[in-house]
Formats: sequence, structure tokens, C-alpha cells
Amino acid sequence: MDKKLDLLRLKRQEAMQGGGPVRIESQHKKGKLTARERLHFLLDEGSFQEIGMLVTHRSIDFGMEKEKYPGDGVVTGYGTINGRLTYVFSQDFTVFGGSLSETHAEKICKIMDLALKNGAPLIGLNDSGGARIQEGVVSLGGYADIFYRNTMASGVIPQISAIMGPCAGGAVYSPAITDFILMVEHTSYMFVTGPNVVKTVTHEVVTSEELGGANTHASKSGVTHFACANEIAAIQHIKSLLSYMPQNCEDKAPPLPYESGDELRPELNTLLPSVASTPYDIREIIDHIIDKDSFLEVHKDFAENIVVGFARLAGRSIGIVANQPAFLAGVLDINSSTKAARFVRFCDCFNIPLLVFEDVPGFLPGTDQEWNAIITNGAKLLYAFCEATVPRITVITRKAYGGAYDVMNSKHIGADMNFAWPSAEIAVMGAKGAAEIIFKREISKAEDHEAKWLEMEQLYSDTFANPYRAAERGFIDEVIEPAETRIKLIAAFKMLENKVVNNPRKKHGNIPL
Ligand code: HXC
Repeated sequence: MDKKLDLLRLKRQEAMQGGGPVRIESQHKKGKLTARERLHFLLDEGSFQEIGMLVTHRSIDFGMEKEKYPGDGVVTGYGTINGRLTYVFSQDFTVFGGSLSETHAEKICKIMDLALKNGAPLIGLNDSGGARIQEGVVSLGGYADIFYRNTMASGVIPQISAIMGPCAGGAVYSPAITDFILMVEHTSYMFVTGPNVVKTVTHEVVTSEELGGANTHASKSGVTHFACANEIAAIQHIKSLLSYMPQNCEDKAPPLPYESGDELRPELNTLLPSVASTPYDIREIIDHIIDKDSFLEVHKDFAENIVVGFARLAGRSIGIVANQPAFLAGVLDINSSTKAARFVRFCDCFNIPLLVFEDVPGFLPGTDQEWNAIITNGAKLLYAFCEATVPRITVITRKAYGGAYDVMNSKHIGADMNFAWPSAEIAVMGAKGAAEIIFKREISKAEDHEAKWLEMEQLYSDTFANPYRAAERGFIDEVIEPAETRIKLIAAFKMLENKVVNNPRKKHGNIPL
């Protein structure tokens, strides 16, 4: 037995070394951790159970049969994060550059199947040179096997991808299907074709960082939800993110213990600027309403005219969607609509109640928006809210104009409770534009056009720039003092805790893509 034990120990030891000390050192020199070091920081101490440590590739071309590494470039298994079961794979760049072979893909698929069957989140730590070039089409098949499973698991278990090195070619599509992507600044990149191909095809000269680095995807494309300063920050972020989510779509996110106290927030009565056209940062309002320091913003640097993220209210996890008056006056455009729509759908998949703060002057006009399909893209947000069955509450702080009033979780599209502050203006459009259209004749006939226009603007404003017409109709359930907002929200979400809505049976809807 001793000899047999020695053999096992030797094999394990070999697997622990990945591609060997020289390649590990080279990984460290690039400022990157190894696959196993990343798992060490991600999972609760001692909780990791590895699966497939001794798997090797089956390739015999190009002398590959002589070069085998136990584990074949990916460490897979399960463990716990803050005590909760989580499935993980972590690509090992020290073995063939973390490239994906047939067996590497099989290992990932095995973990994905287990995660789906057992209803627990899947986290992928990606660091790979893409398809294992020596293997040809079997590697491409392996990718497709993963994409298929990502799609089947979508909406059933949370899936999170951290990009911690290269991620190029078709490989980018697995992370893209998952729920959240995190990238590490300066050491990770994602693109379908790299700088060399770009130069050949479009004659553009661009670095990897500019083309597909963390900051590019966090601010320009919106491909990544988070750009993290380093790998440890990315790992901490994954843990925080998971804490707001349930294990699967049948479950609810675990609440934190909460002791109720004085929930009145008197400072909110004076936070809004006195002039309706003055910008303010909606994050400040959010911070005064939710549990202290509980806001985890998603897509912070992309489409900043809308703010989305997770928070806690009386210990319970909620998703927040809020127009941002401090950026482009909080207008809805293509990027903000798609950003918010995807977030709404995530929350709805995983039973996370939605809280909407509304201060929106409408949709952004212009050829750029129209030609790039603001109609289709704006409809995504509308559709996402309409089909969401989780508890949904809206607070209108100021403007709720035009189609944007309907879209931003109005009562008419299924919101459960709609509150408005006394500063709310709920109308078809702003008073100035409205007066110009409906009092055109009176204004043109007047001796002093400007004075008449101002008078008519005031008339329209007095009639509609308030929440009371909407409240009279029941479109607003209650006009509340800002100071009472937290009290009202805690009570309403508690009241909605057991909400059940069954949308009509269908194969699946057809969201305007
Ligand atoms: C096999 C690979 C590999 C790959 C890297 N290696 N990529 N082996 N298949 N795809 C190996 C290298 O031979 C090297 O082995 C080790 O990994 C580290 O690579 P280096 O080049 O030394 O590292 P670095 O300088 O950091 O460059 C990393 C890299 C580069 C930028 C990722 O290696 C690279 O460009 N690789 C090819 C990327 C690529 O074109 N992949 C195919 C994309 S298409 P040794 O033995 O020296 O340590 C694709 C299609 C997917 O993926 C489609 C899905 C639908």
C-alpha cells in the first residue's frame, strides 16, 4: 500500500505544479496569480474539493503525446464562499497558455452540469490563449459544448466570469452569455479579433489595452460590468456580488440580520435642488434610503445616465434602477436602456425585488439615436419591466415625462407600488415645450411673445408639473414626504414578500433584440 500511496502523492504533487516553476514565475512577473492561488483567495479556507485533477489531453499531433500535464490547463471543482456551495473552474495559463483542449472543455462541462443539477452558482476564472491550436476542431467543439451549457444554465443558476488574462476569438462568448463579467485592469483583455487582424482589415492601429482592456469594456462597450484594479480586488468583488444573489432561480437571496430602528430620514426633505433643471446625484438619494454602505453598483462607468446595482433594505437584497440627473439630465438612450434591461432581467430571473427611482426628461432625440435603433433598444427596457414578476416599486423624485414615464416601471406595466415625492412632475413633456405647441396661436398673436410664452409655460406647469393628477387617477399610490421614503419602502416590500404572478404560458417571449 505504501508504494501505491506514494504514487498517488506523486501524481497529486505533479498536478499542483501546473506548467512548472519557470512558467509560474513568469505568470507572477506579469502581476498575475496562478489558477490555484486564485481559488485559494476565492473560496472559504479548506473548502475546495477538486474534480479531475489527473485528466490529461488525448492529442497525438505535433508530438503532443510527449507533453502532458495532469489537469490539462484548468483546475475544476467546488467549494464554499461565505458558507454557500459554489462551483468553480480556473484556467491555468502555465499549461499551454490555458488553452482549451477537448479534455479541458470536458472538465469545465462536468462542473457546469453539476452546478445546474445541484442548483448552485458557477464561477469561471478565465486566463486562456483560446482554442488549443494543436487540436483543431475538437477544441472548437469543446467551446460550443460550453456555450450550450452557459445558455441552458442562464436564468437557472447565477453565472459569473472573471477575465484574468487573455480572452480572444470565439472564447469571449462564454463570458458574454454569463450574468456578470469582471475584468482586471492592465492584465486582461477581451476581443473577437486582436490588434494584428484589426490592422490588416481596417488599417487601425490599436493596442490590446485600447481595443479590449478592462477600462475599454467598462466604459465604451459595456461588455464588462466591473473593471477591477487587481486580481484580489476582482475576487473580493465576486464574493460581494454573490452575497446579493440566491443559489438558484427557485431560491431567495439570503437576508442579513437587521434590527429596525428609526427609519425616518429627515435630511431627504432638503436634498433635491430647488430649481427643477438643476442636476443632482441620484446615488446620494439612494445612499440615504438603503441600508448603510450596502450599494454595489453594476456597470458604473457605462451609460452613466442610468444607475443600476444591488443594495439591501432592512437586510434584504434588492435591485435598484435609477435615472441619473447628474449625467445627460438622466435621459434614456440606447445604452442606458440596454444596460437597465439586462439588469432588470437578471433580478427577475433570481427573485430579487426591484426598486426604481425615476427622474427622466424622456428619450434622447437625434439621428444618432434613431438610426442606431433607440426604438428597438428602448423597447428592451419596456419589455423587461413588463415581463418582470418580482415585487416592483417606483419612487418618482422629479420628472416623469412622456414615454419614459410609461417605461420606468409605471403602474400600467405591472409595478406594484408607485410613490411620488411632492416635487414630482408627471406629464407628457416639459412645460416650456408643451406651451410652445399647444399655445402656439396665443403666443404668436401676443404683442410680447416671450412674456406670453412664459405665462403659458407657468399655466401648463401649474396644471401638470406635480404628482396630484396622477395620484387622483391612482397611477400613483401615494404622494409621500421624501423623509418617509425608507419607511414606506420597507413596509411595501414586506407586504409584497409573497407576491405571485403567473404570466401567460409560452415557450419563451420574443424580447426586441
Ligand atoms: C496552444 C498555446 C496557445 C494556444 C498560447 N499557447 N496560446 N498553446 N494553443 N491557443 C502556449 C504558448 O505556446 C506558450 O507555450 C504558452 O502558451 C504561453 O504563451 P506565450 O505566447 O509565451 O505567452 P504570452 O507572450 O503571454 O502571449 C499570450 C497570448 C499568445 C497572447 C495568448 O500566446 C497568443 O497569441 N496565443 C494564440 C492565441 C490565439 O490565436 N488563439 C486562438 C484564438 S481563436 P510554452 O510552452 O512556451 O509555455 C480561438 C477560437 C475559439 O480561440 C473559437 C470558439 C468558438
